[in-house]
Amino acid sequence: MIPLDPARLRDAAVELAREAGAILRQGFGRAHHPEHKGRIDLVTEYDRRAEKLLLERIRTRFPGHAVLAEESGAHAVPGSTVRWIIDPLDGTTNFAHNYPFFGVSIAAELEGRLVAGAVFDPVREEMFSAAEGQGATLDGGPLRVSDVERLEDALLVTGFPYDVREHPELILPHFHAFLVRAQGVRRDGSAALNLCYLACGRFDGFWERHLSPWDMAGGVVIVREAGGTVTNYTGGPWRLEGRQILASNGRLHEEMKSVIASVATSGVP
Ligand code: IPD
Ligand code: CA
Ligand code: CA
Repeated sequence: MIPLDPARLRDAAVELAREAGAILRQGFGRAHHPEHKGRIDLVTEYDRRAEKLLLERIRTRFPGHAVLAEESGAHAVPGSTVRWIIDPLDGTTNFAHNYPFFGVSIAAELEGRLVAGAVFDPVREEMFSAAEGQGATLDGGPLRVSDVERLEDALLVTGFPYDVREHPELILPHFHAFLVRAQGVRRDGSAALNLCYLACGRFDGFWERHLSPWDMAGGVVIVREAGGTVTNYTGGPWRLEGRQILASNGRLHEEMKSVIASVATSGVP
């Protein structure tokens, strides 16, 4: 068997994301009856169907690989060198309301290193992907972050986590601080696509707290390979389990970091 390298893992992620995306596309525009995982945290039949398909495909094609998937959790395989990190539907609230902004996110870790990612938007049929050392692409064409240098000229994006009702004080001060400094701030409901839009220069910076590994993993590989910078809120190393992200085109990173530092919160991630 040919050993798996980042490029082959990316190609597999692209195929998987496209297939799961087709399921979401079929479901888009229908009447949904989502269940509640939390007070405002929804899950639809399509989150589950897309995840089931991905798990089946990975089991058949890569029986020795581990998986971490949002709806079913960890599927450990002793001795595995690869772990897939899957968000079968990122943007479930949008999807449940038939708002056309959501996607599938798939990433692969090789020996504990995040090396490949694919994020597919089945409405616009945009496939973002990247492999460590190989650059990032949108539908096969190379991607690069923007060259915006000042927050004043930047279009930023963020998200509000599902615990926003319990902890608005951890969200609103950052939102306020960026809102009065940036050219514009968006909140459009899919962290995975937000990262991809940063990678291709549609956004210049992104911050969010209380995210899970599957929200970030695929998009982080894509941003890094597109020349962007990804850290935690204080500029330290970004961690998959770290629950927060500050990502930018690189040029804006210091300024974004100092805006975050200027806002006092309790330090809860
Ligand atoms: C959510 C989206 C949203 C972000 C939330 C995530 P889900 O993922 O990425 O943009 O603000 O924090 O949980 O639940 O739609 O997969
Ligand atoms: Ca998600
Ligand atoms: Ca999800």
